[in-house]
Amino acid sequence: MNVRRLALHEKDAEMPDGSLTKAEKIDFGACRAVTMTCVSEIGWASNDGLMQDIAAGGGVAASQWHMPWREENARGSCSLLEIECLDGSRRRLLIDSGWNLDYMRARFAATGVDKLLRAGEIEAVFLTHEHMDHLFGLQAVLELKPDITIFVLSTFSDDACRFIAGADVPEARARNDAPHEGELIRLEPGRVHALMPGLAAVGFDLPIILGIEGEQSLYVRIEGKGLVGVTGCGHHTVERIMAFARDHLTDGTQVYGLYGGLHLAPFGPLAPEKEAIIRDMGKYRLKRIACNHCTGLPAVKLMIDLGYPVVRGSGCDGSISDLYVGNGDSVIFD
Ligand SMILES: [Fe+2]
Ligand SMILES: [Fe+2]
Repeated sequence: MNVRRLALHEKDAEMPDGSLTKAEKIDFGACRAVTMTCVSEIGWASNDGLMQDIAAGGGVAASQWHMPWREENARGSCSLLEIECLDGSRRRLLIDSGWNLDYMRARFAATGVDKLLRAGEIEAVFLTHEHMDHLFGLQAVLELKPDITIFVLSTFSDDACRFIAGADVPEARARNDAPHEGELIRLEPGRVHALMPGLAAVGFDLPIILGIEGEQSLYVRIEGKGLVGVTGCGHHTVERIMAFARDHLTDGTQVYGLYGGLHLAPFGPLAPEKEAIIRDMGKYRLKRIACNHCTGLPAVKLMIDLGYPVVRGSGCDGSISDLYVGNGDSVIFD
């Protein structure tokens, strides 16, 4: 895949610390529409089981690569992004690769992702961050398409890169018996990387629980409409997603849609500070919120109570509610 790193005019593109200025907005082109299909949004089966594993591994500040994750509790986060280009052609990316291998194989079969991968109709895997529920299922992708291009953030750990290359990590019960044979593209945080017209990747460098660093997300620019933000877990917060668009992207004040995890109530109850974030989200005047995964059901319910335009789903295939876009559901932003 051809990736262009877009910047402003060379002389005023960057501050001395390497960050982008707000002087001018970056134009990464536009597309006609994007369809997001939720392959799986369930990170794990039981919160209690997950918490027990984290405690056994040393707590949330310890590394996920040294935790005795129980395989039977693992599920995984993965979505299919399909861009409709201005010329009518369609281009696809897989967002993350889930966790439990057998579960992901079943989800790929149920959503047709297996056939698309085999046929080479998915151009790349975009790994938002290296959390186990987004990465450890990579073998299920690579056994169908070992030479697929993979995008990671340059902050990915050596453990993660070795795992992608085919290393097993028995301590974390993570296995990859299908070594990656394609191109591994490491994107720098704080930049705008145009993956195709109307689709840009932006990485956010921040420490995240379980000892990992950084998360990247996507912006889709729909011609005549504005931007859609696409996240994995959204550890970098909706505030930063919106602020980056506003400060650095063409149409950045017109973010009208969100898809993915917003990390508001990932383990059950909604904390007061997260409730405040949700109430504050009203100022963005979003028109379509397709949040799932670590957004958490209590957070989704509050958004609905507040009258936010939450896209509903079917509640099928393992997702626990029809209040949001869940497993097997699709949403179109056009
Ligand atoms: Fe997650
Ligand atoms: Fe995460």
